[in-house]
Amino acid sequence: MITNTEIEKRGNQHPNHIVDFKQENRKLLFTTQNGVVLEISILRDSVVRFRYATEHVFEPDFSYAISDDVNTGFNQLDVQDEIPEYVITTNKIKIFINKSDLKVQITDLEDNVLNEDELGFHWEENYDYGGNIVKMSKICHSGESYYGMGDKASHTNLKGKRLNNWVTDSYAYGKDQEPLYKAIPFYVGLKESIAYGIFFDNSFSTYFDFANEKRNVTSFWADGGEMNYYFFYGPKMSQVVEAYTDLTGVPELPPLWALGFHQSKWSYYPERNVKKIASTFRKLNIPCDAIYLDIDYMEGFRCFTWNNRYFPNPKKMVQDLEKDGFKVVTMIDPGIKIDRDYWVYQQAMDHGFFCRRADGPHFKGKVWPGECKFPDFTNPEVREWWAGLYKEMIAEIGVRGVWNDMNEPAVMEVPSKTANLDVRHDYDGHPCSHRKAHNVYGMQMVRATYEGIKKYTFPRRPFVLTRAAYSGTQRYCATWTGDNVATWEHLWIANVQMQRMCMSGYSFVGSDIGGFAEQPNGELFARWVQLAIFHPFCRVHSSGDHGDQEPWSFGEEITNIVRKYIELRYQLLPYLYTMFYKYINNGMPMLQSLVFYDQEDSQTHFRTDEFLFGEHMLVCPVQEPNAQGRRMYFPKGNWFSYWTDEVIAGGVERWVPAELHKIPLYVKEGAMIPKYPVQQYVGEKEIKELRIDVYYKEGIENSSVYEDQQDGYDYKKGRFSLRKFRLRGKENELIIQQFKDGNFTTSYTTFKLNFHGLPFTIGTVEVDNEEVDFSEIKLNGNNSIEVSKDFTELHLIGK
Ligand code: NOJ
Repeated sequence: MITNTEIEKRGNQHPNHIVDFKQENRKLLFTTQNGVVLEISILRDSVVRFRYATEHVFEPDFSYAISDDVNTGFNQLDVQDEIPEYVITTNKIKIFINKSDLKVQITDLEDNVLNEDELGFHWEENYDYGGNIVKMSKICHSGESYYGMGDKASHTNLKGKRLNNWVTDSYAYGKDQEPLYKAIPFYVGLKESIAYGIFFDNSFSTYFDFANEKRNVTSFWADGGEMNYYFFYGPKMSQVVEAYTDLTGVPELPPLWALGFHQSKWSYYPERNVKKIASTFRKLNIPCDAIYLDIDYMEGFRCFTWNNRYFPNPKKMVQDLEKDGFKVVTMIDPGIKIDRDYWVYQQAMDHGFFCRRADGPHFKGKVWPGECKFPDFTNPEVREWWAGLYKEMIAEIGVRGVWNDMNEPAVMEVPSKTANLDVRHDYDGHPCSHRKAHNVYGMQMVRATYEGIKKYTFPRRPFVLTRAAYSGTQRYCATWTGDNVATWEHLWIANVQMQRMCMSGYSFVGSDIGGFAEQPNGELFARWVQLAIFHPFCRVHSSGDHGDQEPWSFGEEITNIVRKYIELRYQLLPYLYTMFYKYINNGMPMLQSLVFYDQEDSQTHFRTDEFLFGEHMLVCPVQEPNAQGRRMYFPKGNWFSYWTDEVIAGGVERWVPAELHKIPLYVKEGAMIPKYPVQQYVGEKEIKELRIDVYYKEGIENSSVYEDQQDGYDYKKGRFSLRKFRLRGKENELIIQQFKDGNFTTSYTTFKLNFHGLPFTIGTVEVDNEEVDFSEIKLNGNNSIEVSKDFTELHLIGK
């Protein structure tokens, strides 16, 4: 037993010895002898914020990452002043704060240690810039694994890696290259099958060392700002990711067309070429919803202008394309050309909207149009002005979406590739240098863009795409993973990046299909499309320098394969849209790495290739040339082959066939997968019947289908249709119950249920407890029936 006098003595030895404790509602403040204050705030029973000040005083509490809609509230908060520590107890966890050195240990209520400080909080004074380099070190236990962290091009499990978050234009990046385009300082730790998470909300350059330097230490630090992190307790990974996603926010539903197939290139121009690409899609019956205009549509790369020679009548072109189901998405960059005759430049100059260097002159940097100045998007007035600039493009010309590129910001011909560190920013009334604002610059740009598009496209929904991002950017827009390369390795990278982004709260994400730099051969392109139709954002984009990359650019065999997979994407749209609905309502990532699906199975902790698309489909891309098949791991559950209905029991690694036209694709037993007919674009056809593929299971499984008008905001007034299905299979019976919510009336009146793996021959069918005549439900052998969408219980009984 350590006595208070002993603690006092030790405290005198350790500078971080606690000398004061105060509780102010949900905030707990611990002050040490050397002036460090630890502020602990309880947000939820399983979400706690830790903040450290070094000289008694905290900075103003401000963050771009945190959502306004974050859920807070807890059931219990109990603080005990014990020896040798303070013990804080919530309904889910206990936090121990050591009185002699301020070290923190967090356990669950069964006393399993979830996370503990090694050195804990420490810092170095930053002589060059002022402030501190703030550091936190934690003990890494053997068998502990780490996931998340945004777009890192590394193995799903980050143990042994050192990472840096400093958003960077990384043309043709390689595997494990650091840093990349996004800064998402959030990881999920998995310790003996118990998951927790840490979000280090600090916009300076941040670093994470996952047992790289020292086998038993995981640490994170930043070049400035505060040690300010959130701890999330699971125990399931899904609970950790849900809590982080709740904290940093979710987007609104996108228009359904944004989940269709998109075609892009740097650059399609002039107008005749754009139309030719569009008409070729229609001629070859390859579905496509959007076509992108890269920088060459502008006049001398001046944002918000059109090159009149290439595009004499943009409004008419946009209208013509719309008639054929194509939405136009245009690029807008942050760099504004220095040109006294250019209205955007003039306005920004007149209002003082450009960023300045420390001593007053404007910050200048070279991008596509030559020397540019850069608006300070961290100033709310600048954001409002920027949003207004979209009026003509969106409200008058009819462009439907915008992609913001180069918003790290990327600057050419300078070693730092970005703005000088002394550049000043408003940071919403907390003036600072670029060291602090760099990682949020692109985020604030797309935030302004999103506000503009939302306003001018109303009553439709906006579509915005960004390259740079900080935590929370998912609230405003979709994102892509930047300038990748047409190599097999990059196909692997795309796969892990998408899973990792989804695990990091950012599900609306895709890669440049086929690779941006260099040119894929047909095989690589086909394999990439096969993977990417399962990515939430699905777009082919490439650099024009390296040849054509349209679905028909690689010969007939490849065109046919690519068409088949894009068609599958369109069939799966209701499933995908329901995934999106679940993502924004429950924080459920749209893609799940195997470890996320079953963290208890240690086989999953180091798998990279297989993932779940939504809750019920298991995908394993082919990532090598000349493959006729591959090995893949099946996690727990029974899985139907999408192609043959063969059932494979999980818990094994198996060789599976995968000829060029086939991606290994499996459906979980019990799943009900909704499908639309193939359409050339969203809304082309009225949906007359909802097809649902029903995969038999002995036992219970839940599925759902969310639908609404596919655009607009009526869904917020209750005009949506959410159908939840509960399937219960027995040896000789199958019961499907339906629970409905919302008051949107779908265009179809019947479901066509296609049965897979029914172990009995249908003898009797009851709908809502009444036996029905087979002709009424169009019983087709044992394979399918048509039944009113309004049933509450469907009962199939074997002969
Ligand atoms: C860089 C982007 O990453 C790429 O997608 C785009 O095509 C070029 N900039 C040109 O705008």
